Amino acid sequence: MRILVTGGAGFIGSNFVHLVYLEHPDWHITVFDSLTYAGNEKNLEGLDPSRYKFIKGDICDEAAIDAAVADCDTVVHFAAESHVDNSVHTPWPFVNSNIVGTYQVLEAVRKHNKHLHHISTDEVFGDLGPNDPKFNEKTPYDPSSPYSATKAGSDHLVRAWIRSFGIQATISNCSNNYGPYQHVEKFIPRQITEIMEGRKPKLYGTGEAIRDWIHAEDHSSAILTILEKGKIGETYMVGTNGEKSGKESIALILELMGKPADFYEHVNDRPGHDYRYAIDGSKIRTELGWQPKYTDFREGLRSTIDWYKANEAWWRPQKEATEAKYKELGR
Ligand SMILES: NC(=O)c1ccc[n+]([C@@H]2O[C@H](COP(=O)([O-])OP(=O)(O)OC[C@H]3O[C@@H](n4cnc5c(N)ncnc54)[C@H](O)[C@@H]3O)[C@@H](O)[C@H]2O)c1
Repeated sequence: MRILVTGGAGFIGSNFVHLVYLEHPDWHITVFDSLTYAGNEKNLEGLDPSRYKFIKGDICDEAAIDAAVADCDTVVHFAAESHVDNSVHTPWPFVNSNIVGTYQVLEAVRKHNKHLHHISTDEVFGDLGPNDPKFNEKTPYDPSSPYSATKAGSDHLVRAWIRSFGIQATISNCSNNYGPYQHVEKFIPRQITEIMEGRKPKLYGTGEAIRDWIHAEDHSSAILTILEKGKIGETYMVGTNGEKSGKESIALILELMGKPADFYEHVNDRPGHDYRYAIDGSKIRTELGWQPKYTDFREGLRSTIDWYKANEAWWRPQKEATEAKYKELGR
């Protein structure tokens, strides 16, 4: 099996590459990544070049993605702009990479008759009220931010290419990920590294917004399960019942890092901030037999904190510029 991983130098993509490398010694992995500020080749250090190749390329570049797709059996498509705050500030890269880029991936997959798994997010469904049922595979799309709107657009393209052109593809929509190699702009690594810097973690608004946390290793194993057992044309929701408010998550991080419970500060809320995400992940469990490893958020968070403590050299170069950007936004 020759697997092409777009966006494989990013957070979840690199976690996925490490899992595939470990579980499938007979597979050859090619990572195709343009190395935006969010991509980092260091995430892929130590992989044997006889089993792994890196291509620096942009999915919007028709010729480059065409050649890479022609040379593989399966594409796992992670490459995207992924940070909601950035999308509210500057939407164009999101429209370009997430919609135009996915179009180019789809056209290459169609031309060369390859298999595709498209990675998406639960944010395409908008947000839930406190008592609403969780998102499932039939929930209507209702995106709120330029990020989620462009991811919704990419999902619709994949569905249309399945229906109109008969491409062999599956889709997954996953909840918020945490774990090693996540950029310090994202909520959990930002709070951990703020505390490591001796500063207070930052709570958006009142901290009531709820996210359904999943460890990136569990997301990766779910994708692998879909590749191995998923039914062509199907969508799978991926989640591990990890609902926590911003306030609860910060409280847990403070406790695990030995800080007082009131050692945090409020910052401006994100405009249009979605209130609650929650995933009903029963289909992938019952139909494909997938089981997560990190069912205890506290334990997953503890190991993530340990990783950021042990890998300061990895996140340090990004930290100052990231906080300068947040300062501009008042967050
Ligand atoms: N982070 C989450 O909580 C989460 C949850 C569900 C789904 N997702 C989806 O998973 C995927 C990966 O998310 P992530 O958090 O790892 O993102 P990330 O921002 O950490 O990584 C994205 C990667 O894609 C690359 N990339 C961006 N634009 C590109 C382009 N035009 N051409 C080639 N490479 C490009 C970047 O260099 C980077 O390596 C995205 O599709 C995202 O929508 C993320």
